[in-house]
Amino acid sequence: MVEFTLPRNSKVQSGKKWPLAKGADGKKPKRVKEFRVYRWSPEGDANPQIDTYKVDLGSCGPMVLDALIKIKNETDPTLAFRRSCREGVCGSCAMNIDGQNTLACTKAIDDVSGAVSIYPLPHQKVIKDLVPDQRHFFAQYALVQPFLQTTTPAPEQEWRQTPEDRAKLDGLYECILCACCTTSCPSYWWNEERYLGPASLLHAYRWIIDSRDEATGERLDQLEDPFRLYRCHTIMNCSQACPKGLNPAKAIGEIKKLMVERSS
Ligand code: SF4
Ligand code: SF4
Ligand code: FES
Repeated sequence: MVEFTLPRNSKVQSGKKWPLAKGADGKKPKRVKEFRVYRWSPEGDANPQIDTYKVDLGSCGPMVLDALIKIKNETDPTLAFRRSCREGVCGSCAMNIDGQNTLACTKAIDDVSGAVSIYPLPHQKVIKDLVPDQRHFFAQYALVQPFLQTTTPAPEQEWRQTPEDRAKLDGLYECILCACCTTSCPSYWWNEERYLGPASLLHAYRWIIDSRDEATGERLDQLEDPFRLYRCHTIMNCSQACPKGLNPAKAIGEIKKLMVERSS
């Protein structure tokens, strides 16, 4: 039987237990929640560790991101994570919370019973703590050429589209490129160098069915490859993970259908 052994430096150890930050009014907190957060720094050769923080929910906003910001401001300024909009539109605060990829700014603390476990998005290199390296993810996004391509001369005013054709983009254009879907996809975990993953394929489909785009054939040619598209085995993790309620697996299925149609 094959035995797998993790390299020594990949083992996650238990880390520091931080004391509860004192409230500004000095009063005893009424509701305290524990947050167990993945920590790793490229400096030195220490293993990753799980630090435990206590947060007074009486003086904290309702979302997991509020707690992380409070921890950083009041307890541990070295904690690293990404965030920008705080309202689910920039995609930068994606992380794994309570075992699910999601956005920290839209995940309510009260939706997690017990301690809140927070890890970086899975199967991505970690830059520091909760910050994953997304260069490969965005390089794959760039590969699908996510912009309008035309050969006819540009109209004087605008490229027009009927309301029916515009409606075909619903459920696709809303993607915020958070990578929750792609990093939850087992096929992507094993083939990330060659399989484009659900987010990039959803964007590929968004341009393939755009009535104004004139590069449909070239776009399909680019995906006609045993790995780029066909590594999707319809496991559906991606659609369950999407915090915007989108369905990348369906978009991938539609591309596969178009491939069959054009070859028959
Ligand atoms: S449906 Fe396809 S893209 Fe989505 S998780 Fe499964 S294999 Fe990955
Ligand atoms: S499809 Fe959903 S989960 Fe995937 S990148 Fe877009 S918004 Fe994020
Ligand atoms: S901070 Fe922008 S999506 Fe969470």
